[in-house]
Amino acid sequence: MLAALAVAASVVVLTGLDGAGSGASPAPTATVTAEPGGTTAPITAASTEPATPMSSALPEPAISVSPSFDLTAHSIDDPASIWAVVNKHRPVDPQSWSPGALEVIPGGGQMTPEAAQALRDMRAAAAEAGAGFSVGTAFRSYGVQQGLYSRYVRTWGADRADTFSARPGYSEHQTGLAADIYQSAACRLKPCFGDEAAGLWVAEHGHEYGFHLRYPEGSTDVTGYRYEPWHIRYVGVELATHLHDEGIATLEEAFGLDPAPDYE
Ligand code: DAL
Ligand code: ZN
Repeated sequence: MLAALAVAASVVVLTGLDGAGSGASPAPTATVTAEPGGTTAPITAASTEPATPMSSALPEPAISVSPSFDLTAHSIDDPASIWAVVNKHRPVDPQSWSPGALEVIPGGGQMTPEAAQALRDMRAAAAEAGAGFSVGTAFRSYGVQQGLYSRYVRTWGADRADTFSARPGYSEHQTGLAADIYQSAACRLKPCFGDEAAGLWVAEHGHEYGFHLRYPEGSTDVTGYRYEPWHIRYVGVELATHLHDEGIATLEEAFGLDPAPDYE
């Protein structure tokens, strides 16, 4: 996880990353070194290989069974649903959709009202526990994601950009239910956030506020993205707690959806 910062010399200007909102704090243009998650090891099949040989492994059930949990309580297709599953196989539909209502959150970004309230509650609890965090980007429109992804492609090429950035119309940030949080500037958008007090606290307590770590370590072959301990996704307390308590790593596995490592 603390691999050499091979790309640290390069500078990517993430114009508008924090710019969904206005006013408070960080200037709408943030400059960070390297790409988000740039210290992560490259994606390899080995990173998610089972410990036992495939020939002796039992087939995994397609859907995690929890008798008391109703997996149909909310839509996974409607981008306005707190259970919307957006990945490389499941674009936001319609692709240019935006939430009907957004609220400004600490840091100047925006989330849907329900997610914003949960974020504020969680942030206060984390600070109380000595694990305070700041919020970077949250809602990103189709257009903002388009600009961001294009810049990444120009800098890194499409194959690499696709490992850490969604294409426009395919980002959870477009639903207003996701946010990127950070503690230190040094570990902002980097895997080491997961080892900081805030990263550890959110991994342990985020579900109590309805948040799920959408891009966990070891799930790249399912989610299509590198480990992003900073990317929190609001799904509501019920589902977040189900995922946490049952040890279900991804929304794809929770709902029995196909892995989405690549675009179709
Ligand atoms: N970094 C996540 C995958 C996004 O761009 O939505
Ligand atoms: Zn994110």
